[in-house]
Amino acid sequence: MEVLVLGSGGREHAICYSLSKSSKVTKIHCLPGNAGISEIAVTENISVMDKDGVLAYLKKNPKIELTIVAPDDPLADGMVDFLEENGYKAFGPRKNAAIIEASKAFSKWLMKKYNIPTADYEEFTDYEEAKKYIDNAKYPLVVKADGLALGKGVIICNNIEEGEKAIYEMMVESKFSLAGKKVIVEEFLVGKEVSVLCFTDGKTIVPMVSSQDHKRVFDNDEGLNTGGMGTFSPSRIYTEDMQKDVYDNIIIPTIRAMEKEGRLFKGVLYFGLMLTDNGVKVLEYNARFGDPETQVVLPKMKNDFVDVCLATIDGTLDKINFEWDNEPMVCVIVASGGYPVKYEKGKEITIDKLEDGVLVFHAGTAFKDGKLVTNGGRVLGVTASGKTMKDAQAKAYRNVEKIHFEGMHYRKDIGNKYYD
Ligand code: AMP
Ligand code: GLY
Repeated sequence: MEVLVLGSGGREHAICYSLSKSSKVTKIHCLPGNAGISEIAVTENISVMDKDGVLAYLKKNPKIELTIVAPDDPLADGMVDFLEENGYKAFGPRKNAAIIEASKAFSKWLMKKYNIPTADYEEFTDYEEAKKYIDNAKYPLVVKADGLALGKGVIICNNIEEGEKAIYEMMVESKFSLAGKKVIVEEFLVGKEVSVLCFTDGKTIVPMVSSQDHKRVFDNDEGLNTGGMGTFSPSRIYTEDMQKDVYDNIIIPTIRAMEKEGRLFKGVLYFGLMLTDNGVKVLEYNARFGDPETQVVLPKMKNDFVDVCLATIDGTLDKINFEWDNEPMVCVIVASGGYPVKYEKGKEITIDKLEDGVLVFHAGTAFKDGKLVTNGGRVLGVTASGKTMKDAQAKAYRNVEKIHFEGMHYRKDIGNKYYD
């Protein structure tokens, strides 16, 4: 069968890579894709938000039997509903379920109603009320824009001045446009973060191998937040006992809560967890595969990815016997100079011969005049596995050094947290 993937990042490259390993897939399509993806899939410059463009593409390519909608924006905008209404099979939650990521007010309300452990919070739509609260609160605290804000709508405030600035920017200056009209002010949690991605057909929910992201731009978690500078999998701190506790008290209650609310969730549900001294709490839900978590999680799945996607859509996940490769895996993101603030595109990239088994997932790359060039902030994700996490790290970093472009930067400590 032929499969279409919507998206253009490292996550989508990893998804296309898994599809390329499927015995059932004869051809992969990806809109709009990137340079790396175009080596294993047919790509065309159609936006993931362009519903009519995607529909026209499907009509032009009638052998496509499955569309995987990977990014948050088209999910929140109802791309899956639209494709289904037009008679196509699509992987991902419908709009009324994607809200679990698209509205933090909704997800906090859901967790409160169903006793799912998370940080205490208040919700505001009125600036004066928010200001009154901010002026009398204990610090640090966290201010979050309600809607999708490209991962930038979360501000950790250490004092009143920072708190006032955050709500002013969101509620008065509309820095995140509609996403900031409503804000959540949340208790600051201390602990270690783990990402748990799950396949779910709305009834059965199957956690994948755990992973840990590195959101800050510089080593030792310094500097600004980014889309993610690297990941490793599995997490060592996410023990078997903890996995059971999280499954019983967070994962199952969430999926049942969505069903009870008439918002059956099908696709990948991502649990961003904080391991605090008072137990594991949910930091956030994502209605999709994580990026760059997918790069270290999906290659570990031994099952045919297409079977899993179809079972997720058809409600038969309980029939699949999942198998995972447990070898440690590390993904180091190589970024453009200046990312996440200001960076230039169009720098020529050269890649020397890589060691066997190394996967380079492309994110912001393009071909220009036959040359591979940078085309975004996060450029490549160098992914390697090994017998131990140290082996995986060493292999990933040996191969990062084979990549060259002007201004490139990367964290040197991805994977060190495994030993914390
Ligand atoms: P989110 O988009 O909600 O995951 O937030 C982005 C990042 O901000 C998280 O990965 C955490 O590192 C941090 N963060 C979010 N909420 C909290 C919180 N309540 N306490 C501490 N850190 C937080
Ligand atoms: N790695 C975090 C995310 O995908 O949102």
